[in-house]
Amino acid sequence: MTNTAPIDLRSDTVTRPDEQMSAAMAAAEVGDDVLDHDPTMRALEERAAQLLGTTAALWVPSGTMGNLIALMLHLKRGDRFLAPRGSHVLHHELGSAAWLAGGMPDPLEWSAGPTLLCLENTHNSAGGTVIPLHEHAQLAAAARDSGLRVHLDGARVWNASVALGVPPAALTVGVDTVQACLSKGLGAPVGSVVAGSDDFVREARRVRKMLGGGVRQGGVLAAAGLVALDRIDALAEDHENARALAAGLAEIGWEVTRPQTNIVLAAVPDVRLTLERLDVAGVRAVPMSGQVRFVTHRDVSTADIKEALHRISEARI
Ligand SMILES: Cc1ncc(COP(=O)(O)O)c(C=O)c1O
Repeated sequence: MTNTAPIDLRSDTVTRPDEQMSAAMAAAEVGDDVLDHDPTMRALEERAAQLLGTTAALWVPSGTMGNLIALMLHLKRGDRFLAPRGSHVLHHELGSAAWLAGGMPDPLEWSAGPTLLCLENTHNSAGGTVIPLHEHAQLAAAARDSGLRVHLDGARVWNASVALGVPPAALTVGVDTVQACLSKGLGAPVGSVVAGSDDFVREARRVRKMLGGGVRQGGVLAAAGLVALDRIDALAEDHENARALAAGLAEIGWEVTRPQTNIVLAAVPDVRLTLERLDVAGVRAVPMSGQVRFVTHRDVSTADIKEALHRISEARI
């Protein structure tokens, strides 16, 4: 019998904890993280800070909350901040940068008196593109010279580090704060970290509590995060699968981007119709930047990618 289960390429957030991760969660040593810190949370935060090259880090339930906390601490009401066109903080966080952090967003060009530059690496809506090291250094230096602080939305900074073959800490040089997701390609069911100086993280802990993001026996979730952080190198397989998907789609006539990481964007005449037809064929994707977005992740294998291409080809989408 042929397997007709849908192949889910909507996002790298659809990954489910595997046996090893579930076992680590079940066995986690826990405390009360809001009262006086949870030991597994502490271990995760120390490890994340070390990987990201910061002095401290704080677990937060989501990337959105990590970015929000950083923006709340960097911005005063009415401050302008710069972020790349199409960035997640500008378009996909429901205006929280303005509503809750009080910041006035400006797409990256130039504007009077901004106080913060918010980078995104990899850049989701541009198709998982990577900011190369020299460009990152130039941006961070230009920000510094203009007296701007720098926050990095590094939801997929792990993918950028694998694509460039450098440690994640190389991508945070010159930034004040960074947010990095555990729940995307690394496969944790929940969680991100927001990292920076000791002072920043002390304040961030206070703001997290204010936002209702403190969790008590958080070690259960941090244990998943620790397993996730062991899986950074495995992201190379997702990147390989994205390249195979893009090559296969191009072969059957699709207009696709050349993926730098785990995201493939395809330009199609009618996005909604294409997504419907993909869904009927058993391949799931989402709209992004007026195109169709496919994301590879640890729950789709190379064989699944071949099967997805077979289904798309058979259905003549
Ligand atoms: C670049 C980027 N930043 C932040 C986020 C927010 O992460 P979360 O969904 O955990 O809130 C996402 C989620 O897709 C993202 O792609």
